[in-house]
Amino acid sequence: MQSQSFNTVRRIVFGVGALQQIGEEIKRHQGNRVLVVTDPGIKAAGLVDKMAAVLEKDGLAYHVFAEVESDPRVEVVAESVAAAKTFSPDIVVGFGGGSALDISKVTSIMLTNNGVVEDYFGMEKVPSPGLPLILVPTTAGTGSEVTSICVLSDTKNDVKNGIVSEYMFARVALLDPELTVGLPPHVTAMTGMDAFVHAMESYVGVRASFLTDTLNLQAISMIAGNLRRAYANGHDIEARTQMLQASCMAGMAFSNTQNGLDHALALAIGGRFHLPHGLLTAFISPWVMSFNLIACPEKFINIAEAFGENTAGLSKMEAAGLAVKAVKSMLDDLGISYRLSSYNVPREAIPDLAKAAIGAERLISNNPRRVSEADVIALLEANY
Ligand SMILES: [Fe+2]
Repeated sequence: MQSQSFNTVRRIVFGVGALQQIGEEIKRHQGNRVLVVTDPGIKAAGLVDKMAAVLEKDGLAYHVFAEVESDPRVEVVAESVAAAKTFSPDIVVGFGGGSALDISKVTSIMLTNNGVVEDYFGMEKVPSPGLPLILVPTTAGTGSEVTSICVLSDTKNDVKNGIVSEYMFARVALLDPELTVGLPPHVTAMTGMDAFVHAMESYVGVRASFLTDTLNLQAISMIAGNLRRAYANGHDIEARTQMLQASCMAGMAFSNTQNGLDHALALAIGGRFHLPHGLLTAFISPWVMSFNLIACPEKFINIAEAFGENTAGLSKMEAAGLAVKAVKSMLDDLGISYRLSSYNVPREAIPDLAKAAIGAERLISNNPRRVSEADVIALLEANY
């Protein structure tokens, strides 16, 4: 067997109210001038004021760039870099959901590297480290605070493209469950399912290791036990805490393995039809799990059991199939349909979507079952 490696962020600070420590963390990394990269929703929710109050209390100069859109386009990076250059930060804080965190990562590397963003699409193409980064998630889903990945929309080519670079690992990931309390139920559902899909795809993938298995199985069982609770009552701080921790663990794992066919399809469909990423990965998950079942039934049995399914006395394949049943039941409870036709995606688009999904080598290469374009077309047709 080829040897493997495991990388993650150096430091994770966590706990209810942990945001109060951000100034201390910034100073620990010799930061004095802080660029905060966030989105308009976070600003409107009053969370930027909360962050600003802590920075002011600690005497830190800061500038807020709050223009990150969801599914950010490559062009947004140019705007955030321009904002940064007028302020000359020495540290970057990403604050928000996956989009804000992703843009903060690319901003940090574009401030120290020449060239254009497009030069760095792919694996490990960034030549030099960026400015120090502290990432503070406000959703429990992407795990972006602990990954070295960012995903951008290339609107010229209607696709989503990823940059993977060890230089995009944060110096600190700061997890404060209080920041996720205000998320509306449908956002809680979509982002929480995205975290599940990260753990599931990383767990069954061909690049899984003993370290990622441990993180992923624990994350799956925490999500199985807490996502319904967080959806039902956003103020359930215990459920919010467990979801944020699970999302972080899944992020630590999939940053090392990458995801699989579910994410390849989510990027293909999302690139063209602009549906929320978490919604896509959620509704695609039962299809891809069914397809992958025969590649590693033992792992799917563990997933079924993490959801509390009783597998005693069943054949291996019957027991593995309970993982799909459990996920469908979760989606039913969260009000997420898993038919493609529910999302205004025309049937005629299927061949192009299949082609785009198969082209996502970084993701497809980790899928446990080898998959052809014809397989993907059949999968989308069967679940239309
Ligand atoms: Fe995802």
